[in-house]
Amino acid sequence: MIKTFSNIEELSNFAAEKFVEIGNQAIKKHGKFTVALAGGSTPRSLYQLLVSDDFKDKIDWEKVFFFFGDERDVSPASNQSNFKMANEILFKPLEIQKTNIFRWQTEIINAKEVAEQYEKYVRKFFKIEPNEFPKFDLILLGMGDDGHTASLFPHTKALLENGKIAVAEMVKKLNSNRLTLTFPTINNASNIIFLVSGENKAKSLHKVLETEFQPEKFPAQGVKPTNGKLFWLIDEAAAECLTK
Ligand code: 6PG
Repeated sequence: MIKTFSNIEELSNFAAEKFVEIGNQAIKKHGKFTVALAGGSTPRSLYQLLVSDDFKDKIDWEKVFFFFGDERDVSPASNQSNFKMANEILFKPLEIQKTNIFRWQTEIINAKEVAEQYEKYVRKFFKIEPNEFPKFDLILLGMGDDGHTASLFPHTKALLENGKIAVAEMVKKLNSNRLTLTFPTINNASNIIFLVSGENKAKSLHKVLETEFQPEKFPAQGVKPTNGKLFWLIDEAAAECLTK
């Protein structure tokens, strides 16, 4: 499902409504809501809305468990950290308990070990067998202007990972390690919401949504939930190059 909005504010408001709707359904169904947050800048306004008077009382935050779809290989105190962004905007204002937050432990020096640790974390929480994947109630994703999503970048080995939940990858174009959930994990989610805003995304959004399937070039094309729902929430600027 693709929904276009005039601007990021309207997009974020719809996303906040969806977040609460999916969250309350999950809590009703199995007593908790597991969500993997997106990093980058686009989700900031959604997170700010969730702590606002319009939304903060619409869900029982004690039953919400926060994970991260990806992370940069930096300290959790770094301004580059997706955890730090969420902690400042979301967790602190809502006084989310540490026991409800599962961040990538990037203080571990070796990125591979960070990914292995995160995999253990997720497996333990979801109580799954070695050959199973977790089923997140919701995974929020952004999309880069190169068509990457989470930290699944074009032409990287991480795109081909089909056994692990979490991997580390040296991303040459960034000259840095990135940590990311893998496609089998993402595609096992019950709900996936892409948040895409801005004219700098327009060209890649057209390629992802309207051209042939080449996920090695445009990784966001690889997000195809097996049994879940997929929502593309985009603003008019990002939709600029779409033909349909
Ligand atoms: C990250 C994100 C990444 C992000 C896109 C879009 O760690 O940066 O997870 O996948 O969603 O790069 O980023 P913006 O929202 O900043 O455009």
